[in-house]
Amino acid sequence: MLFSFAVASLFFGLSTAVVSVTPAGSDTVCAGQVTLSETYIGEHNNVKVSFATCPDVGSQSRALTSRQTVTNVCGTNCFVPSGGGPNPNDCHIIADALRFNSQNIGAIFQVNTGTNNTVVMQFASCLSFFVNQDLGPIAYCRTDWAALIDFIAPNCQATQNAHGGNCVATDQRWFAQVQHA
Ligand SMILES: *[C@@H]1O[C@H](CO)[C@@H](O)[C@H](O)[C@H]1NC(C)=O
Repeated sequence: MLFSFAVASLFFGLSTAVVSVTPAGSDTVCAGQVTLSETYIGEHNNVKVSFATCPDVGSQSRALTSRQTVTNVCGTNCFVPSGGGPNPNDCHIIADALRFNSQNIGAIFQVNTGTNNTVVMQFASCLSFFVNQDLGPIAYCRTDWAALIDFIAPNCQATQNAHGGNCVATDQRWFAQVQHA
């Protein structure tokens, strides 16, 4: 119920929020990124997880603020122009790995602040990352991140003049992004 509500909110947000924000290059998700550690998750241990520092995320979220559509969960933005988006099937593998971890580790994950404020997940062509922009740690649902990935990936594609997108919390405390790896 909560998830379908979240996805409905996302869909509502998407219809009017297509902005031009260029995601960072293939191996990094932000300027000045420092990767602290890497591991693999999922039923087949094939989704790479990195914990990282993203020092310059503040300016990115501000750039999105004036254009995002406010929903009850987060405002979804697709990145223009079309072409070069991640394969939604690859993104779905990441989402399923999050659901697998939700069942086997726990529903909630924590994202720290400061030097360890970013979690990056990658499988094949798809990369998704979650950035905590708050002053303290954030606890978030793995299945909610999975739902975001499964919504953004297929709905921010070439047919939508897009190549990935993100969802910024209405209170700006975090955002989750989906892009080509
Ligand atoms: C980074 O934070 C995660 C939890 O989000 C934790 O599991 C990991 O050990 C931390 N890594 C470092 C280097 O602090």
